[in-house]
Amino acid sequence: MNYDLIYPGNADQFLDDLCDRVEKGMDEGLLPVEVFRDDKVFKAEMERIFTRTWVFVAHVSEIPNKGDYVLRRLGLDKVIVTRDDSGEINVMLNHCRHRGTEICQHDKGNTRTFKCPYHGWVYRNNGDWAGAPHSQDAYGGALDKKEWGLLRAAKVEQLHGFIFASLSQDVPTLREHLGGAVWMMDAIFGLHPDGMKVLKEPERFVVKADWKSGAENFSGDAYHVSTAHLSAALSEFIPGVNQVSSMASGYDFGNGNSFIGHALPELIAPMFEFWGYPKEYRDQFDLSNLDETQIEMLKTVPPTIGTLFPNFSFLRFPQPAVPGEMPIPFTSIRMWQPIAPGVMELWNYELEYAFLPQEFHDKAYLAGQFGFGSGGIFEQDDTAVWEGIAKAASSPWNRAHGTQLHYQQKRGGADPDWKGPGEYHPSIYGEYCQEQFWRRWLREMKNKKPASTGGCNQ
Ligand code: FES
Ligand code: FE
Repeated sequence: MNYDLIYPGNADQFLDDLCDRVEKGMDEGLLPVEVFRDDKVFKAEMERIFTRTWVFVAHVSEIPNKGDYVLRRLGLDKVIVTRDDSGEINVMLNHCRHRGTEICQHDKGNTRTFKCPYHGWVYRNNGDWAGAPHSQDAYGGALDKKEWGLLRAAKVEQLHGFIFASLSQDVPTLREHLGGAVWMMDAIFGLHPDGMKVLKEPERFVVKADWKSGAENFSGDAYHVSTAHLSAALSEFIPGVNQVSSMASGYDFGNGNSFIGHALPELIAPMFEFWGYPKEYRDQFDLSNLDETQIEMLKTVPPTIGTLFPNFSFLRFPQPAVPGEMPIPFTSIRMWQPIAPGVMELWNYELEYAFLPQEFHDKAYLAGQFGFGSGGIFEQDDTAVWEGIAKAASSPWNRAHGTQLHYQQKRGGADPDWKGPGEYHPSIYGEYCQEQFWRRWLREMKNKKPASTGGCNQ
């Protein structure tokens, strides 16, 4: 379909106009529908967001040993995330420096070197050039190991074992970038010195929906639960799930980083402080690094869902591992991986505190799969409705009409007595978290300056 017939002009003009319309719509609570699927928008997102900000790529527990690696994406680019022979973590572009072929074909493994399948150039697991067939005859000896090594992400940092990378050198530190959201990540993932571990291979599946539908939903949309997920209540898998929207709160740290909280002890039973971790495990949590507000939050309205801009989301909720059993908390993180306009690959990782026994790991994994595995009852609800949004975005009728989507819920108001960072809204109604997500998106999309990746093979 040629959208240029509807929106004449070049891509730059289209994007400038779109950003103007998004900006204008922000104050009125309106959003042009085409942001959810458009070739030009997608290309600009890859260039203006995913090459320029911090993006989650892997968890350290996926590569615990020297030589371990996993193949991931950073925007559209495939990257190899390795733990090299000295134990350092590297994020490198999966393209040979000779003629560009992809050098790594496996999703994960352990190796000291990567050998290109085309002419056989070899790279160490830290990305250094290590050799080539007939190198004496062909090149008169070895090439410079750094100059001809794999391209490396300009910045790589970790937070609670989550590895983030940036292709741009011009980024603040990861902690500065996340701001108040670090406080929330500490409260969720920093409860034990042994940290968390990924329980099994992350699942991934293709969804014909835009990556932002997932990210925006997890940033603050508790409103959909009583309708989209009603089947969980009707099937008695989670009785009362249709009540949770009105028991939800919002933790907004700005910059597209926000979380939903649920008053679980009030919603389910008093024992569901700390998401309902059994008392014998909760007693082993180390809360010495948390402040009073964090501890009070975990007792009363623990964070259950959240998004760090652009495409990292979190989920921890008590669910039964087997229908009818007592709910236990499971932890999932997900990556909304863009792969084409209006199409994403959804990565779902289940994690658990490493110190907990295998029996609990197994149960928590099952609980998470029932709800949010690729065949999980909630996952299917969400992905089905998000696919409709991508279709709406490419509807000629909608485009001709200039359809804007509705973000006009009345505001709940921030709690003036909140002592934590950011804002706490006792009601999730208001779409303030989603607004922050879109304001951040807009800011990045308006910045046309190319990312500064210089010298990133050093
Ligand atoms: Fe990799 Fe030639 S393309 S060695
Ligand atoms: Fe949902």
